[in-house]
Amino acid sequence: MPGRVLITRAIPEPGPSLVRGAADRVDANTEDRSLTADGLKLAVAGQDAVLCLLTDQIDASVLEAAEGCKIFANMAVGYNNIDVAEATRRGILVTNTPGVLTECTADLTWALILGVARRVAEGDVEMRAGRFPGWGPLYMLGGDVAGTTLGLIGPGRIAAAVARRATGFGMTVLYHGRRPGAELDGLGARSVPLDELLKTSDFVSLHVPLSAETRHLIDAQALSQMKPTSYLINTSRGPVVDEAALVVALRTGQIAGAGLDVYEDEPKMATGLADCPNTVLLPHLGSATIATRAAMSRIAGENLVAVLQGRRPPNLVNPELWPDSSRARPHSL
Ligand code: GLV
Repeated sequence: MPGRVLITRAIPEPGPSLVRGAADRVDANTEDRSLTADGLKLAVAGQDAVLCLLTDQIDASVLEAAEGCKIFANMAVGYNNIDVAEATRRGILVTNTPGVLTECTADLTWALILGVARRVAEGDVEMRAGRFPGWGPLYMLGGDVAGTTLGLIGPGRIAAAVARRATGFGMTVLYHGRRPGAELDGLGARSVPLDELLKTSDFVSLHVPLSAETRHLIDAQALSQMKPTSYLINTSRGPVVDEAALVVALRTGQIAGAGLDVYEDEPKMATGLADCPNTVLLPHLGSATIATRAAMSRIAGENLVAVLQGRRPPNLVNPELWPDSSRARPHSL
């Protein structure tokens, strides 16, 4: 049933070409910025399929405006921007792009671990400002990385990729998750209760999806359990951390520092965070490599095209709508 497709924002190839090759008509926002909430509602009306991004809030009102749409193919591994329960209720398939951004997100997690402990961003600012007074025995001392303890919250692929890198640094790796992490176990990581992880880790790194259960998982109480010498790293989703509580913990020395790639209310950040020198603050770059974004674009395009062609999309996040991969979808599309 080749049909009408919306691409909500300028994205890299090959996704757009894949979609153009399979659809009757493609409406694409060619600007590198999101549509407004009203613009999105207008744009989804009458579409058979939508390729969207984590910057698009696909809430109940957008899903209602998209009456008749078969799929929202999100170009992201996270899909907290989509009301999946409502999409499922309406029989709309939702897909994501898992796997392809694991390694580059783990790399960026490590950039933050090393950057915040060894004061890389602060040091760069000192040099550029001409403030380097010459080597000094007390100048810009940071924390150790090699041989310390890394605590990973979330047992998934990205946590495992971060743990794999940690073995080269001779670190003890702990993790906490609702389910066992087979790959983490295989790497010698130890599953521990959250309290123990917070109390004993030198680096606490977050790798959970955002859900009602994980929102503010790291709140004032959790931060108070961390050591004054430990660092918080977040490359998952901003709202997993209570950012206002984090600013207090950073200001009062309750923890040594934070390396953040994501924020509670992007693109803004909490008042006071920018004034904390013991932070490395990145603008949501976890998957921002040329090859990874192309791979994400391809997978989002492939998921969408599969549905246009009556096939089950490979990365379905609401599989209850199409339980059996060997058969055509029970309710015809
Ligand atoms: C990026 O944050 C993603 O979820 O893909």
